[in-house]
Formats: sequence, structure tokens, C-alpha cells
Amino acid sequence: MPTIAAQLDRIFRSAIQDAFNMASDPQIGVSQNDKFGDYQSNAAMGLAKLMAEKTGTEANPRAIAEQIVAKLKLGDVATEVTIAGPGFINVRLSPVWLGERLNEIFEDARLGIAPVGEAQTIVVDYSGPNIAKEMHVGHLRSTIIGDAISRVLEFQGHKIIRQNHIGDWGTQFGRVVLAIWYLVLADHLNQVEALNRLVAWMKAASDAKDEAAKGEVVHAVAELHRYFLSQDPDGSVIFEPKLSSLKLKLGPLEALYQFVTAVTDSKAAEGEMIGENPLASLPRLFTTFIQDPKNPANKQEELAWRKASEATLETCNEIYTKLGVKLLPGDVRGESAYQDDLPGVVAELKAGKIAVESEGATVVMVPGYEAPLMIQKSDGGFLYGTTDLAAIRYRITKLGAQRIVYTHDSRQQQHFAEVFWTAKQVGWAKDVTLEYAPFGTMLGDDGKPFKSRSGATVKLKDLLDEAEERALKAVTEKQPDLPEVRRKAIAHSVGIGAVKYADLAKDRVSDYVFSFDKILALDGNTAPYLQYARARVRSIFRKAGDAEVGEIVLESPFELALAKHILRLGEVIDQVARELKPHHLCAYLYELAARFSGFFENCPVIQSAPALRESRLALCDLTARTLERGLELLGIEHPEQM
Ligand code: ARG
Repeated sequence: MPTIAAQLDRIFRSAIQDAFNMASDPQIGVSQNDKFGDYQSNAAMGLAKLMAEKTGTEANPRAIAEQIVAKLKLGDVATEVTIAGPGFINVRLSPVWLGERLNEIFEDARLGIAPVGEAQTIVVDYSGPNIAKEMHVGHLRSTIIGDAISRVLEFQGHKIIRQNHIGDWGTQFGRVVLAIWYLVLADHLNQVEALNRLVAWMKAASDAKDEAAKGEVVHAVAELHRYFLSQDPDGSVIFEPKLSSLKLKLGPLEALYQFVTAVTDSKAAEGEMIGENPLASLPRLFTTFIQDPKNPANKQEELAWRKASEATLETCNEIYTKLGVKLLPGDVRGESAYQDDLPGVVAELKAGKIAVESEGATVVMVPGYEAPLMIQKSDGGFLYGTTDLAAIRYRITKLGAQRIVYTHDSRQQQHFAEVFWTAKQVGWAKDVTLEYAPFGTMLGDDGKPFKSRSGATVKLKDLLDEAEERALKAVTEKQPDLPEVRRKAIAHSVGIGAVKYADLAKDRVSDYVFSFDKILALDGNTAPYLQYARARVRSIFRKAGDAEVGEIVLESPFELALAKHILRLGEVIDQVARELKPHHLCAYLYELAARFSGFFENCPVIQSAPALRESRLALCDLTARTLERGLELLGIEHPEQM
């Protein structure tokens, strides 16, 4: 069934056609004020302007509205059509007609929402964590928002290809491999303890921005190197690292990677603080050692890298599973996957005169942006933008993408604008829509970017665990007699749902304040509120025993208000898909729960006479199913009991 807005659109369109012999958008929307009606058309004002321009004489929008109304063939859809203000045409829907619509959608698992006429292949690029680093809150937002958008587009009938463009290439490669060599070598020499101590010292020195202390750590690392290097009489350590059996965990890997970064970036490492010390440039020394052709370790760089990738993705997958997002290991296609395509990308852009040389580097000058998009460094290295261009080409030519959606941090606005422009310019994305759906920053209570109390970045796993723990406490207080497994299952749905909903309920472009108390509250626009509302509707059926549902007849204004809202789900889904903004769906569900309360408080269900009871039970069932469908599209669970 087309949405009500779509049906009115068709009726108004032909009325405008009949009245003025022209095609025009009737601009159908929900009425500003339900005193006037349910839906309104704003077409008359625009038409008046258009006609005035054409004929050179004033046109009265109210008169135009009257002419449209005279041609409207609304049949049994509406009971009243009025013209308000300068020329808004308001339509009040007929309760009988609305009741019929509800009875029609009752039988349909999709609640009467037809799939789109023309299904597209849509790539959604979301999450995108980086190797050897824990996901941060930005990745959390990307994962949650990208997942909800994918679900909505998928429900519309599109073919969705999820792509996890992980950061697994670039300058960090060398440092991550170096970190792994430290680890295996220390292990080989039974020096893991010593290494861990160094890592901890370096972290403390870095956190304190204490260059002198950093210098000391670098000295200590120098000692370690000396130790490594003195293992063999001729001065080089020849050992066979057992990488294939190495069990790498993201936690220690990240610590070591940060350690290597701190050592490498330390002024001491440049030799400034340790003067003539021959071991000053430690990383280089170590790299030389690794690259020694006699050393079997240098043949295992690829494997080391793969281990780092695996360790990172293992942790990410735990988070995806906990979050219940649909992103699977098979959706990972990171930057490194495009490695072989990069020279070709640069060559094609150069051949098309889209990329130019600038101080030895290759760049694309994008109109409107001061900083150009760099695609090749003077040393020949490729960049983040180069991989993104290769990814666009791949997604269009190999995956058949007709639309590509990116949900990433608003700080990447310029990056995507430049990449999109370049892809359009070179002709890869001629008939393809490239869309960037940015989001703001998650803030703490203090209005600053979300951090733990100690000021460190918050581990996502800890954040999600805390949400579940707090939810468990609340559930246990309310339902102490439920078995623990049940309480834990509810706490999982509620805690994770609350985190996700908090992210989805706000217009994504703005920053938002994250507070456990607010997101877990049972009142207000929260997941627990909606989950509770839905569980409450379902509990009516338990109380109703074997009472049946029957034909819906709408009489009370509360029933009507609820009915009209239920029938709007399809319109809201269209809006979310168009704007890529899930908060519209959240607002819709919140309003649905409110209208249900109004209905339930004013219209007895179980105590009513059989026909009315059956009608109202059917309305309850549709409400529950609408809430369930909405929550599922957001990726939020709905526990049977709360
Ligand atoms: N790895 C990136 C980051 O952490 C996100 C990847 C976004 N996706 C893309 N196609 N560039 O910021």
C-alpha cells in the first residue's frame, strides 16, 4: 500500500494538472496544526508566484487553492478539506477510511509498507577501525548509525553491501611491525617483563609530557637493543620468530604500538638528548637488524601485519556482536585491499589532468578547498584519499554500487568532499550518488569530548559493560525474583539498546551529551521507555487470555490519533532513507508510545463489549508490531518482559 502522503500526492497532482494544465509538486506534508486537518498541501503559494512571473499580474494563492480544491477527487479518503492562512489546503482523513487501511495492513508482516519501486545496490561504508588501535567513540557512533541506516535501506528493498574500510595500511605499518618484533624478541629472550616495564614507563612519561623521562626510557630501550644485539657473538641476533603460533591480543599490541610511536617521536630518539650515543636512532637500528638478509624475521613482515589485523578485528568483532550490528567479518575490505590499484588510480587521474604535480607530490586541486587532496607523496607513498578513490572505483565497477553512503565523523567532511569531487571529475561515479552522512562528537557531562574520569579515552567494551551492569542493577531492583539468566538477558537488551538509542535519537549532525542516568531512564525519549511501552502493550494480550482480535473501527479521538500515527511509519522510513537520519524514526516511535498511552488511559480494552474489545485489541497489536518493527530497524532489541 502506498503511504497516505503518496496517495494524497497523486490526488493533488492530478487536481493541479486538471486545474492549470501543468505538472507540479503538491508539497504534501503532515498538517502543522491538527486543528486544521491531518495532511496539508503547500502548493498554492508556489504556483501563485510561478503564474505571476508568467503572466506579469498578481495571482492570489487562496484563489489558486480554491481552484485546486474544486478539482480534488478525494473520494472516501477525507471528510473535510479547508483552506487556511495564505493558501494551505488541509485535508482531514475519514475515520472509516483510516479503519479500512488498518484492517488492510493488519494481515501484512511489513505493515503495509511496500518495497521501493526501483531497488538500488547501495554500499554503506561504516565503522572503519584502525589496526593496532582500540575502536574509539567515533567508531562506535559510525557503527551504530551506519547499521541503522543500512537496516532502513534494506527494509525498503534495496540491496545493501556493507563495507568495513578498516585502516590497515600506511605509515603505521612500519611501527606496528616493529612493535611485534619487540614483542617476539623480548619473548625469545625471556625479557617480556622488562619490556612491559619499559612500556609502562614510556606511557607515564608521554602522559606527563616529560621529555627528560622519555629520554631515560629511550636510553633503557637502547640498553635492551644492546642486549638483543649482544646475543650473538658477531653482533647480530639471528633468531627464528615463531610468528605462526604467536597469540597476539589487541591490548598489549596497542600498548607496544604506542610505545614504539613514543620512542620514535621522542626527541631523544633523534639524538638531541643523548648526544653522540650511537644507539640514538633506535628504530632505525632495529629496522636494519630486521632487514638483515641473514635474518629470517624480515621475511615475515606480512605475517606480522596479518597477526596485528587479526588481533584488532577479533576485538572489534566482539564489540559488533555485543552491539548486535549486522557488520560481519566478510564485510571487511580495508585500505590494504586496494594496494595494487593505487598506482593505476594516480596514473588515471594524471592522464585526465585531474591530478597535478606539486613540490614533488601529486595532488588534486578541488574547487572551494584551500588544501588540495594529496594522492601521492614525494617519496612515492600513497595516502588515505588514494585508497578511498580506489575503493569508490571498486565499489562501482565490481560491486555495482548505484549509491554509496559513508557514515563517519564530521571532521572528515573535507576529505570526503574532495574524494567525491575527484571521483565525479574522473568519470567513475557519473550516475552514482556519493553521500556523506557525518555525525558530531559524543560529549561527557562536562560538555567536553567523552573521556573517562582519569581523562583517558574510554574503552568501548568498558562503556558497553557498564551500560549492561547498570541496567542489570535496575532490573534486579524491579524483578528480584526473576532467574539471573533472564535478568541478564533483559539487562543486555536494555543496556545496549540504551547506548544505541541515545546515539540514534539525536540529529546526528550535532554533538550530544552522553549520560548513563539519562539514557537508562524509564521516562523520556530513551530505549528503555520504548522497550517498556512495547512490553506493556504485549502484556495486555497476556491479560486478555484467549480474547481475539477483530475488525478495527475507529471512534474515539484517541483511537484516531493513534491510528493516523501507525499509518505514518512508511512515510517516516522514507524520510530516514532520504535524509539518512534515524532520529526521525526515534521521534516517531516516541510519539507512538505517547499516543498509545493516551488511547490506553481513555479507552478501556479488556472491559469493553466484544466487538469493541476485538477492535481495540487489534489496535494494540498493530501498535506493538509497529514499535517492534521500528526498534528492529534501529537495531534495538525488544525484550518480552522488563
Ligand atoms: N579508519 C578511518 C578512521 O578511523 C575511518 C574509515 C572511514 N571510511 C572510509 N572509506 N574512509 O578515521
